[in-house]
Amino acid sequence: MNANTDKWWVGVVAIILALVGGFSVHFMSDSNGAPAPAASNTSPKAQEAAAPSTPPTAPATQVAAATLVTNDYGRARYDPIHFKPAIDKATDADCLKCHQEVLDSKTRDASPAGLKKTDTLAWYQTLDTYAGEQMTFHQRHLTAPFIKKVATMSCTTCHQGNNPRDEVSGTSADSPTDLTMRKMVDPNLCLRCHGQFPYQNMGLPGPWHESGAAFQNNCLLCHVSIRTNRHKVNYLNAAAIEQEATANGGDSCYGCHGGRAWYRTSFPYPRHAWPGAGATVPDWAKDRPTESDLRFLIEGSKP
Ligand code: HEC
Ligand code: HEC
Ligand code: HEC
Ligand code: HEC
Ligand code: HEC
Repeated sequence: MNANTDKWWVGVVAIILALVGGFSVHFMSDSNGAPAPAASNTSPKAQEAAAPSTPPTAPATQVAAATLVTNDYGRARYDPIHFKPAIDKATDADCLKCHQEVLDSKTRDASPAGLKKTDTLAWYQTLDTYAGEQMTFHQRHLTAPFIKKVATMSCTTCHQGNNPRDEVSGTSADSPTDLTMRKMVDPNLCLRCHGQFPYQNMGLPGPWHESGAAFQNNCLLCHVSIRTNRHKVNYLNAAAIEQEATANGGDSCYGCHGGRAWYRTSFPYPRHAWPGAGATVPDWAKDRPTESDLRFLIEGSKP
């Protein structure tokens, strides 16, 4: 259901409720796309307070409509855990209490047109790092063998809270201003591991599939001494990444730095100082931060 339909529906419910006379101001602000659901209408208490007292004579359809927004499903959907600040403290176990299906459900054995999943193979799936059968997106990023070695993502690495009703900013004067259009997760996060290989910044003559051979397809040939202060963020396993690359070569590095590029750009990585780095900052790096995003910093990540 898209946000507009959703709002239209709520508007109608609001009007019906206004007509039966049990309408509260809380509820109205909700139908206007309240910016911070957590603040005004998300907690079960707030919802109870906002729940219209249905007159005993109200027709059945109106009662049904009224319960939709105040029942357990509605409350769970607007549970404060979905939003700031509560989401910052949520553990995976907290989220999985209600969303176990994101890890348990399986991909279809065949597409509706009949193509078996065992007969499809994207080129990146031929890489040595890609193990096992097709999995769902969530499984690939949380439970697949390769990701479990190199990364330590949790639900909140990607999910930072989104407004399920109003998915685009600017739909009304008081709508939230920080929504990533129609996305539950900010794609900038994905870009970190799914961007293009930034060979220009490395002084390499061409993309890795052309220039790699000259370097034995081994990133570490250079990166054993260049930009060595890397990956010290809470969603990556820095030590295991280096082990992987030492044991299995450039594919494991390249996978996250061009090998699975869903985007046409690459992420402007922070440029951490490293031992042996000269004082001159190349032009392309002039605007780069020198630390990882605060949100992802872990203890011991400072040089
Ligand atoms: C109390 C139960 C409950 C908990 C705990 C919970 N959720 Fe939900 N969540 C729901 C319900 C119900 C919905 C609405 C289901 C739907 O639309 O498919 C929902 C919807 C979502 C959606 C879709 C939002 C949208 O725009 O439609 C995401 C993403 C999500 N939850 C992530 C999380 C994450 C991450 C956590 C932990 C921080 C979490 N949930 C914790 C019950 C819960
Ligand atoms: C790698 C990033 C990433 C991680 C980690 C992640 N999610 Fe998601 N999740 C997404 C994306 C992307 C979507 C689809 C968003 C959209 O459609 O805009 C999504 C969708 C969802 C939805 C909506 C229903 C669905 O299945 O499409 C729920 C619920 C959800 N995630 C819960 C979780 C929970 C719980 C966890 C932790 C166990 C989790 N996610 C971990 C990126 C992630
Ligand atoms: C920390 C790095 C990282 C982040 C962040 C990340 N991914 Fe991935 N993604 C990977 C890795 C690694 C694989 C391949 C895992 C494997 O081979 O088992 C992958 C695989 C995929 C696949 C292929 C899944 C399959 O089974 O064929 C898709 C699609 C994808 N990612 C989309 C996304 C999107 C969308 C986001 C942002 C919401 C995202 N990724 C964020 C590292 C990441
Ligand atoms: C010929 C040496 C060389 C090889 C081989 C090489 N790199 Fe680099 N790389 C560099 C240099 C030089 C820089 C830029 C250093 C600086 O910041 O001044 C760099 C920067 C990077 C950056 C940061 C880019 C940015 O925009 O901040 C990433 C990521 C990276 N390399 C990944 C890789 C991966 C993955 C491989 C293998 C697939 C690889 N490199 C192979 C020399 C190399
Ligand atoms: C699982 C995905 C993944 C793998 C595997 C991976 N990287 Fe990264 N790399 C990232 C992410 C995400 C960042 C940005 C981290 C941050 O924000 O500080 C990054 C940052 C970097 C940077 C920028 C360093 C700086 O100054 O902060 C370099 C250079 C780099 N990687 C090289 C490599 C090399 C070389 C390998 C193989 C040994 C490798 N990467 C393997 C995901 C990966």
